[in-house]
Amino acid sequence: MPPAAAPLPCVRLLATGGTIAGAHTTGRGYRAAALSIEALVAAVPQLATLARINVEQVAKLGSQDMTEAVWRKLAARVQAAVDDPALTGVVITHGTDTMEETAYFLNLVVRSDKPVVLVGAMRPATAMSADGPMNLFNAIAVATATAARGRGVLVVANDEIHFAREVAKTNTTQLGTFASGQRGLAGLVNSGRPHFYAPPVRRHTAASEFSSASAPSGTGVPPVVGTGLTRRKPALFPRLPRVDLIFAHAGMDRALIDAAVTAGARGLVIAGVGDGNLGAPALAACAAAAKKGVAIVRASRTGGGVVERNIEIDDDRLGFIAADELNPQKARVLLMLGLTRTRDPRTLQDMFFTY
Ligand code: SIN
Repeated sequence: MPPAAAPLPCVRLLATGGTIAGAHTTGRGYRAAALSIEALVAAVPQLATLARINVEQVAKLGSQDMTEAVWRKLAARVQAAVDDPALTGVVITHGTDTMEETAYFLNLVVRSDKPVVLVGAMRPATAMSADGPMNLFNAIAVATATAARGRGVLVVANDEIHFAREVAKTNTTQLGTFASGQRGLAGLVNSGRPHFYAPPVRRHTAASEFSSASAPSGTGVPPVVGTGLTRRKPALFPRLPRVDLIFAHAGMDRALIDAAVTAGARGLVIAGVGDGNLGAPALAACAAAAKKGVAIVRASRTGGGVVERNIEIDDDRLGFIAADELNPQKARVLLMLGLTRTRDPRTLQDMFFTY
């Protein structure tokens, strides 16, 4: 008798919606998150050659409606899945609009070396030449790859593999929207065959100081059994403080900064001009906010480069934090997490140099 074939790896597929699950309404219009995850899996029978897949519809939304509450729920589901010894990896379907923020959040809070892969699509599932099916096939392949372990949370789309920290959506409609301009790609994936390049440069997942908070020690996160038959309630990540993100521009006054502070923001990220700069009235408002204990992070609206300390703005004197390489939306994620630990600007600055 021939030896029995090794069982296929088991992957947990968590769905949140997005254009990958979108369906056309009238003309060129479509509705994101219209289709269930079961329908997406049924449309790609080839997935059964890669893995045994068990699915859960965690949310059903366009990612413009993604919230911190869903992030926390998703983090708990991912943690429960990766803690299950029967599971090889996790794939999350997600809209592309805010995928980079969810990916970076999970990159900092999930405690595991197992692959966690976010996947989306630019064309709805009902479109001519939809990109979702191949993206999903590639994402499942990456989630089963031994070489994907220890690389943090990944994003797969358009035959590319991106690190959560590096990836950004850079185009409104084109398939090649995702770019990892500064540090480059994590790898490529061709019809289910991944090729990995250099490892990620900063701390993440199992080495992140935030990942222990997703499963407070002593309570443990009970496993989701790989068959999907037994599911117990996983622990939730603690609530996140309010952090607002304000886009700087020529002629900016202080009104939006003051409004954010009045609304109760514990931190502000400024998508500053150039090297994270902002004009005198807005700068004065930020300085006043920092004096009151609001954490001020200077990021850049340019889409590339490093925001360094003390170049045109005296961060040391004003108590500001430079975003280093993070774009404004990811700086907001890190600041929210950082503020769950400290309000000290120097400690927060160290986090921006670490993650
Ligand atoms: C969304 O982010 O949910 C809509 C856009 C997309 O998925 O490409």
